[in-house]
Amino acid sequence: MVGAVCPVLRSVGWYRVEIGRSLFRSGVTEGTMRVLFLAGHAGGLEMINTPYYLIDKQKLLGNLEKIAYVREQSGAKALLALKCFATWSVFDLMEQYMDGTTSSSLYELKLGRQKFAGETHAYSVAWADDEIEEMLANCDKIIFNSIGQLQRFAQASQGKTRGLRVNPQVSSSDYLLADPARPFSRLGEWDPVKVEEVIEQISGFMFHNNCENGDFALFDKMLGTIEERFGHLLHKVQWVSLGGGIHFTGEGYALDDFCARLKAFSQKYGVQVYLEPGEAAITNSASLEVTVLDTLYNGKHLAVVDSSIEAHMLDLLIYRLNAKLAPSSGEHTTWCAANPAWPAISSANTRSSVHWPSVIACRSSMPPVTPWSRRTGSTA
Ligand SMILES: Cc1ncc(COP(=O)(O)O)c(C=O)c1O
Repeated sequence: MVGAVCPVLRSVGWYRVEIGRSLFRSGVTEGTMRVLFLAGHAGGLEMINTPYYLIDKQKLLGNLEKIAYVREQSGAKALLALKCFATWSVFDLMEQYMDGTTSSSLYELKLGRQKFAGETHAYSVAWADDEIEEMLANCDKIIFNSIGQLQRFAQASQGKTRGLRVNPQVSSSDYLLADPARPFSRLGEWDPVKVEEVIEQISGFMFHNNCENGDFALFDKMLGTIEERFGHLLHKVQWVSLGGGIHFTGEGYALDDFCARLKAFSQKYGVQVYLEPGEAAITNSASLEVTVLDTLYNGKHLAVVDSSIEAHMLDLLIYRLNAKLAPSSGEHTTWCAANPAWPAISSANTRSSVHWPSVIACRSSMPPVTPWSRRTGSTA
């Protein structure tokens, strides 16, 4: 029983690590680990050997219902961003609440085409010559990241619905790697004059400049900036994708304001709006279940678990995030850290060493979890 294992993560036992924003990227869970689906009663889970990912379908459903609400109220279409979540075992549920998928590589695209009903969008920062044919054969819309790519594949993609990624040079991203507003960003075309020159070749735009943005006012403001800079061009296209990174399924999000804003935007420019939720679709619905195999003390209390950051929580490494563990009440309280940036952390083979300092360092403070609550999609 999880709650009985150890209140302060100090002894060998079973623990839960929250799933980060893109842990399920590209089907890693289907390929390398068992995924367990929880559709109600949680009893008996202690009999299953860790490590495994646990997806709580009830929680997933809560997110999907919010997505359905937004579609209904705003008229926007919602495409699952497979770069965030590609666990196709639950696509049969998700496709009932969403309009299709979007992708960032050929194999994601094919996964979306083969396993998820509805529209299949193709986007990549750059396509290679030897994949363009297969890519075009599997998508409904193709979104080029640059005018250079649009021109390179102009002939090959003739007759296809084409779009261009536009970089509005404002974003809510804290991560340099994914921030279109950073200097020298590769993510889309920023110059409205240049974009206008190719407007006849495309019918839509994609703006992806939100990241873990749970603040409707900020979303609203950045959309306003997009309108100021590109409004005259928005009137010339038929569809606009506003990308992912909008945390509209989060607790307390101004959902009705969001719907009204999307609807007004769509009506003003006469465009079909698309959203590309990844994290918003799966937030709070999955966890990585692990067992603490050993504990030791070396200036700080250490716990060695039967999983590894490299294999199972790669996002922690890429984005330098802390793992969030549960149960975590008691002497050392709340959120524990497994930040690979900290020198005390080490990993050998597939074992990661997770430590929890007495003073817990974390990027955002969150309340302790109850044994069966699961949170995903860290907003840290
Ligand atoms: C173009 C695009 N769309 C959608 C997403 C999904 O973003 P999120 O999982 O933050 O909602 C991403 C993620 O990086 C992306 O690059």
